[in-house]
Amino acid sequence: MIKFLNIFKQDKYIRKSIIKDINKIINKNNFILGKEVFNFENSFAKFCNSRYAIGCANGTDALTIALKILNLPKNSEVIIPAMTYCSTAFSVINAGLKPILVDLEKNRPTLSIDEIKKKITKKTKVIMPVHLYGSVVNINKIKKIIGNKKIFIVDDCSQAHGAKLGSKRVGSLSDISCFSLYPGKNLGAYGDAGIITTNNKNLYNKAKNFRNLGSDKKFIHTQIGFNSRLDTIQAVVLNHKLKNLEKYNKKRIGIAKFYDNNITNDKIEKLIYSKGSVYHQYVILVKNRIKLEKLLKINKIQYGFHYPQSINKIDCLKNKFNKKKFKNAEEIASKCLSLPIDPMLNIREIKRIITVLNSF
Ligand SMILES: Cc1ncc(COP(=O)(O)O)c(C=O)c1O
Repeated sequence: MIKFLNIFKQDKYIRKSIIKDINKIINKNNFILGKEVFNFENSFAKFCNSRYAIGCANGTDALTIALKILNLPKNSEVIIPAMTYCSTAFSVINAGLKPILVDLEKNRPTLSIDEIKKKITKKTKVIMPVHLYGSVVNINKIKKIIGNKKIFIVDDCSQAHGAKLGSKRVGSLSDISCFSLYPGKNLGAYGDAGIITTNNKNLYNKAKNFRNLGSDKKFIHTQIGFNSRLDTIQAVVLNHKLKNLEKYNKKRIGIAKFYDNNITNDKIEKLIYSKGSVYHQYVILVKNRIKLEKLLKINKIQYGFHYPQSINKIDCLKNKFNKKKFKNAEEIASKCLSLPIDPMLNIREIKRIITVLNSF
C-alpha cells in the first residue's frame, strides 16, 4: 500500500526525544501555558520572520480569534475564496461577519486578484486569502488593491507553513496570519493545535488575551474570549517537529517537480502552483474521477479530495450563496484528486504512482 500520509515514518528519528520530553511535562504537572508553549511561539515567530506568535487550540480558532480581535461592526464583509476548507467560511460566520466569495484564478489553487477588486464594497473590512495546497497568494498585489482603504488582510496559512512570497515567509506578509497545526499539515501536532502570527503589538496583545478567556491576570477578564490555548504537550511535539519542517518541505517540492515532469497523460490536468509553494497537497484534475479512483484502489495507492465541494455548495452554507456560480472553484471540486506527497515517499513509490497515472 502506498500511503497518502505517513506521520509515523516522518517522526521516526525524533519520536524518542518527543516521548522523553512529554514525560518531563507529566512529571512537572505543567500542562497549561508552560514554558514549552512560549518556546514554540518564539521559535515559530522567528521561523516566519514575524515579530509575534500566539499558540491556540486549532486553525479554525486561530481564524476566528483573528477576526474577533478586530472588533468589526456586525455583518462587515470578509472576502474569502470559493474553494477552501469549510473552516475559513465558518470562522467568518462565527465571528458575526459576512463571507463574500471570490472565484479562483483559472488553473491555480488560489483566489483571483481581479475578482477581489470587483467584490470590494464600503462594507469590506477584511480580505482573507488562503494559500491553498501550499501555493502562495500574492499578498503584495492585494495590498496594492487596498491602497489606503481601511481593510485588513488576514491570511489563512493552514496549508503553507514555510512557503515563501519572494524572499518573505508566509506568516509575515499580512496584518494577521493564521495556521492550523492539525496532524496532517506540513507542520502538525499529535492532536489539534493552531497558531497566529502578527507584527502588530496591539493585535498580539489582544490575541494572547483572547485565547485565554480574555485574561492576562488570573480572575481579571477584559474580553469575552475563548478558551483556546495551545496545549503544553502539543508544544513539545511541535518544538521537535519544527526542526524538520524545511527539510520535509524541500522533499515535497522535489516530489512535486517529479510529478510535474513525468505525469504525461493528457487526461490529467495539472495546476499551476506559486513559485514559493510548499505543496501541502499535489492536486490533479480529471474528468472521469471515479474511473481513476478505481485504478488507484486496484493498485493500492491512497489518495484524497481537497475539496469535493466548493464553499457555495456545502450543505449548511448553500442557502447563503444561492444561484451564485464560481466556475473555477466548482471545476476543481468536481475534478480534483490529491496524490500522495508525503516527504517520506521513496522514488520507487513515486515512479509507481506515475506509471499508474500514465496508464489511465
Ligand atoms: C485552509 C484551512 N483552513 C482552516 C483549517 C482549519 O484548521 P483546524 O482543522 O486546525 O481547525 C484547515 C485545516 O484543517 C485548512 O486546511
